[in-house]
Amino acid sequence: MKSILRVLERLSNENYISGEDLSKELGVSRASIWKSISTLRRYGYVIPSRKGIGYKLEKRSNLLLPWEVKHGLNTKFIGKEIIHRLRLESTQDLAMSIAKRAEEGTVVIAEEQSKGRGRIDRRWSSPAGGIWFSLILKPKIELEKITILPLSMGLAIVDSLAELGLDAKLKWPNDVMINEKKIAGILIEFTSEIDSIDAIVIGIGINVNIKKEELGIEDATTLMEEFKHEVDRVDLMKRVLNNIEKRYIQFLNKEERIIEDYKSKCITLKKRVIVRYMEEEFNADALDVDENGALLVMLDNNTTRRIIAGDVSIR
Ligand code: BTN
Repeated sequence: MKSILRVLERLSNENYISGEDLSKELGVSRASIWKSISTLRRYGYVIPSRKGIGYKLEKRSNLLLPWEVKHGLNTKFIGKEIIHRLRLESTQDLAMSIAKRAEEGTVVIAEEQSKGRGRIDRRWSSPAGGIWFSLILKPKIELEKITILPLSMGLAIVDSLAELGLDAKLKWPNDVMINEKKIAGILIEFTSEIDSIDAIVIGIGINVNIKKEELGIEDATTLMEEFKHEVDRVDLMKRVLNNIEKRYIQFLNKEERIIEDYKSKCITLKKRVIVRYMEEEFNADALDVDENGALLVMLDNNTTRRIIAGDVSIR
């Protein structure tokens, strides 16, 4: 891997460079240079070669390769360790299996998922072209405050989409919406001992360069549908990781600010909603979000209820 990255770095700084020069400079055989170039091409880098002149890097890969995502990333600990796979059943499974021993901030990315999971046991459509990843966090905070963490992650996605010029909103608890259509979702899972949480695995899915038909979900949208062109996924991934770190630090130090910001972006408030939780289903008015991120609703018999989980749809 090291030699591939050195070849890539060298190609990035040059117009055409010969295999011989590359092999001399990097102190490896011509065969090894050829192997590195073939691997880079397989990853989607466009590297034409000209007889007697050498190789040139014409286009970088648009896969979410660790060295591409890390390049120019402004974080202190989020994304310092990135595991990348072309295909996984779910990034959550791999992240959960390593969470206990992994460093805080480790990210697991897949280009495609065959069994992507959504909230409330739903399936999450994850074809190539999206951003599908899981993030391992190990906050040392009181357990009751944990419910604010997903809200802060939702805000980080909203912040990132705002940087691209989109006015995204949040549907409680953390569906990221554009014009009332879902563009991203967040799933939180824990690995725990009997009395304490070892790690939190946050799964984030963003519909990026995917055609609506390919996604196959009626009330969802994708960035490609919104912009009518493809979006640079590597650039967006970096923005998301940068914003996640900012919001995570805010969550650890000033969680009341998170709730304030969250409310200003939440489209569920002041709406008539249908709440579905376990076997129950009822209509209510969404009133407020409390200091722990729960949704407060008023039922038709004028009693208030605090919703901490479940599905809340706007009527
Ligand atoms: C939701 O229901 O809104 C949450 C969707 C979360 C999807 C992401 S994609 C990456 C990670 N791996 C999964 O299997 N699910 C999450």
